Amino acid sequence: MQAAPNLSDYRPTENLARAETMPARWYTEPEFLALEAEKIFYKTWQPVGRLEDVMRVGDYFSCEVLDQPLVIVRNREGDLRAFYNVCPHRAAVVAQGRGNRNSLQCKYHGWTYDLDGKLLRAPEFEGVENWKAEAVCLKPVRVEAWGPWVFVNLDSTADPMSATYADIEKEIAASGFNLEEMRLVERRDYLIDCNWKVYVDNYLEGYHLPIAHPGLFRELDYDQYRVETHRLYSKQYAPIRDVEAGDVRDRRYVRSGEAEEDALYYWVFPNVMLNVYLDNASINIIIPVGHDKTLTIFEWYFEAPGTGEGWESMQQIIAFSDEIQQEDIELCEWVQKGLKSKAYDRGRFSATRENGVHHFQTLVHEFLTKD
Ligand code: FES
Ligand SMILES: [Fe+2]
Repeated sequence: MQAAPNLSDYRPTENLARAETMPARWYTEPEFLALEAEKIFYKTWQPVGRLEDVMRVGDYFSCEVLDQPLVIVRNREGDLRAFYNVCPHRAAVVAQGRGNRNSLQCKYHGWTYDLDGKLLRAPEFEGVENWKAEAVCLKPVRVEAWGPWVFVNLDSTADPMSATYADIEKEIAASGFNLEEMRLVERRDYLIDCNWKVYVDNYLEGYHLPIAHPGLFRELDYDQYRVETHRLYSKQYAPIRDVEAGDVRDRRYVRSGEAEEDALYYWVFPNVMLNVYLDNASINIIIPVGHDKTLTIFEWYFEAPGTGEGWESMQQIIAFSDEIQQEDIELCEWVQKGLKSKAYDRGRFSATRENGVHHFQTLVHEFLTKD
């Protein structure tokens, strides 16, 4: 077991105008990751796959929350179930990849489990004492479906997803977006040389738009850009600039004029980003794979793939996101290097532009110091 990191050098100041950022060592010392896993990632709802992969009885897929292997199944009653993908005999996996089966069989000695995780057969186990086949079961995990995704929470006492996501869901529905109907069009994975919190910090402010993302800056009404913080999520309000005459071709997004808002951008603590547009949506999932290595998974969804006016611009939308992501990757990798420098310990926040970053850092501190 790794030594717990010292957390005493950071106590977030509520007043943004007076606050300092999280100390650099919180991003650079390897000890933080194990604590963050335990206190943050194993206690929050994590997206692990797509609902369309587990629609029929017997459908399953294996997945992970950081280093914890899991399996998601659709049982005989038609309910979604999730278990640790760990056989109680010698800890091998009971499911790999995805598929459809009426039971799960461990790849090691062949113990077989039903779709509720209960042991059905354990070959050559007669005569074993203090052991009852009926009592053996894969360890269950909380699971919920939301939009086109499957989420799990390793904390059996956690609030249901609705505690955080119900408001988001309402807003999405009220704006006329139909998340349930969205189908995956493309997934891209980006491995970045930075701490996961560097990437999240970067996502949560629009302060860097004018300099770092000239293309995106042209599209958005920067003066109106703001971040609204809630208990465990924040929402970026980034209105798309009105198109002026003769301007249309340079714009990836054109104001619809119908919906109250053209786009909704949410970040849910700690690592889920949801970008919802009229006929498409994308999710970004930020996964630490090391203290200074982060996997960002981008998935793009479309309401009716292959049809409609928006379809033609889908590839353009993906290419544009990719361009912005490449710009952000460069920034994040610079920042990670800078955080290791002897010259830097902590910085300050723009009081008008960086409230979202301050909110996130305060939550990280809260979770890490909570019992
Ligand atoms: S480890 Fe699963 S049957 Fe032995
Ligand atoms: Fe950015």
